[in-house]
Amino acid sequence: MKIFTTRHLLPIAAGVLCSMLTGGAQADATLAQNKGCLTCHHSERKVIGPAFKDVATRYQNDKDAAAMLAKKIKDGGKGAWGDAVMPPNPHVNDADSARLVAWILGQK
Ligand code: HEC
Repeated sequence: MKIFTTRHLLPIAAGVLCSMLTGGAQADATLAQNKGCLTCHHSERKVIGPAFKDVATRYQNDKDAAAMLAKKIKDGGKGAWGDAVMPPNPHVNDADSARLVAWILGQK
């Protein structure tokens, strides 16, 4: 009996591929995309802002980092990585900011 048609399999295959690429963090990646973070950031390499992997490495032993970064995402700032300025992101609420930080700090 044929249970799955190609029409059914395609979205499943796409979903599996996405979770393979992002380590299951697709929803968080989508959030970062929707909030405009990926215009200036990439997980693996520096764009205008630092690579999220480098951010995770820098703060891996800093227990205060999550709160500091969640605030910085909302308020913007400069000086930690160079001369480029991160503009404030007032459209990101506290919950989303905390979620983005957890996702970023998990990227190693
Ligand atoms: C217009 C470009 C731009 C956008 C949009 C942007 N960033 Fe940044 N981001 C930067 C720059 C530049 C820095 C480096 C600032 C510094 O050196 O202190 C940075 C730094 C960071 C840092 C590290 C801060 C630190 O003190 O180490 C995090 C985390 C971060 N961004 C997350 C985000 C998230 C999440 C978003 C989306 C809500 C976002 N950024 C949107 C440019 C951007």
